[in-house]
Amino acid sequence: MNRIKLFDTTLRDGEQSPGVSLNIQEKLEIARQLAKLNIDVIEAGFPVISPGDFAATRAIAENISGPVICGLARANKNDIDKAWEALKPAPKKRIHTFIATSDIHMKYKLQLEPREVIERAVEAVKYARQFTEDVEFSAEDATRSNREFLCRILSEVIAAGATTLNIPDTVGYITPREFAGLIRYLKENVKGIDRVTLSVHCHNDLGLAVANSLAAIQEGVTQIEGTINGIGERAGNTALEEVIMALNTRKDVFQCKTEAVTQRIYRISRLVSTLTGMPIQPNKAIVGSNAFAHESGIHQDGMLKNPTTYEIMRPEDIGLKRSKLVMGKHSGRHALNERLQELGYQLSPEELDKIFTRFKNLADQKKEITDQDLEALMQDEMFSNQEYCKLVSFQIISGNQITPTATVKLEKDGVILEEAACGDGPVDAIYKAIDRIIGVNNNLLEYNLKGVSGGTDALGEVSVKIENGVGVFIGRGLSTDILAASANAYVNAVNKLIQAQNHKTQETAIKKGEI
Ligand code: KIV
Ligand code: ZN
Repeated sequence: MNRIKLFDTTLRDGEQSPGVSLNIQEKLEIARQLAKLNIDVIEAGFPVISPGDFAATRAIAENISGPVICGLARANKNDIDKAWEALKPAPKKRIHTFIATSDIHMKYKLQLEPREVIERAVEAVKYARQFTEDVEFSAEDATRSNREFLCRILSEVIAAGATTLNIPDTVGYITPREFAGLIRYLKENVKGIDRVTLSVHCHNDLGLAVANSLAAIQEGVTQIEGTINGIGERAGNTALEEVIMALNTRKDVFQCKTEAVTQRIYRISRLVSTLTGMPIQPNKAIVGSNAFAHESGIHQDGMLKNPTTYEIMRPEDIGLKRSKLVMGKHSGRHALNERLQELGYQLSPEELDKIFTRFKNLADQKKEITDQDLEALMQDEMFSNQEYCKLVSFQIISGNQITPTATVKLEKDGVILEEAACGDGPVDAIYKAIDRIIGVNNNLLEYNLKGVSGGTDALGEVSVKIENGVGVFIGRGLSTDILAASANAYVNAVNKLIQAQNHKTQETAIKKGEI
């Protein structure tokens, strides 16, 4: 069995998905879960791009051990210095430097001659090697590059010290058979290619990212780059969970294995979806809510007789339990702790007290509490910051014959503030009342409501995306009352916006020498 290394770029390329922005605490939690999934390399960020990216990469380098922590850098000294500075505390680290190699990119984007591109690539790799022995080089837009030129530049960066060569299909253009041919060609024509790890990085514009990655594996590539749930620029990147399960399920075809702990897949997929505010389509392979659901009578009959009739993977393999009912209002603190431990949460006594109180409140409203409910509660507890203002209460007058009106009370700096507003619907009225109290302009870009489990008493999970000049902020709220979930999600997003605004004001004051 060939060993395939998994390189996860959820926190870098994945975060480049339109409208996604994660804070440090959220990135750290995703990195922790990636480490538990046993990913080989975590691309933590692009440190030169923003102070936030630098700080997140640094925090991951400081706190996550196990996987190699990688930082992206264009092929110049300043980017590489910044990447190294952020990565320094990591026990295992990699600098990933890249430059575009296609005629289109060299001519229009870089405005450089091919010879200059080679010089920059070689210089960058040599410079990065002064810091670490682990240097990856990517030839951006490799699949639309001239093959002879690609061989030249790749041969030269190997001679300069690159230890991993990555072949990106940056615009998701290539098809599996062509990609296999390209990899074969490179293996035959790039000098020293046997000494380095050969990697691919595919985008999904034609829906071929996973198929292309698997075709490359069949030609001997040993590192696959991708993201959880396939999130990323435009149509996204290779969905790593799909590659992992394809290799696992079809060992007979691929003769390859990864070191991934597949039972962690479901959990990290949910986490990434919640934190990025990007819902997973129900029919998504491996992690969609229908991926293991059997609707037709013939299929159900087959499943009851023997699950292998219609199931090529077991839900347990990705960490999805078949039994849905786990707890109810008679369950105690000890039972809750045991169940949470089984789900992978280690809580301090104080944390357990808090979650137990929420669990009991939920059990009063909802008869059966499932694993999904517990996961949703845990995520809400970890990420629902209400630092600057806190929802105290709200009241709604609504109906099909009257104008919806909301009265909202928020606590801000220890003071209770109250406002009322009318709206097109109850949610609109609540949000307008909150806007009046906070007095911060923003646009609501997205509002999503999802039932965590089935039934009219289900927990409702609301995620909202708001935007103002400072950035895009995602807020989440969870409650059996969808208006309460909606109000909390908005307050959560507004808190992040105020936090970012305060940081910006502080940075400006520091620059001006006022602090
Ligand atoms: O898609 C791409 O080419 C990239 C590189 C930076 C690896 O993301
Ligand atoms: Zn990419």
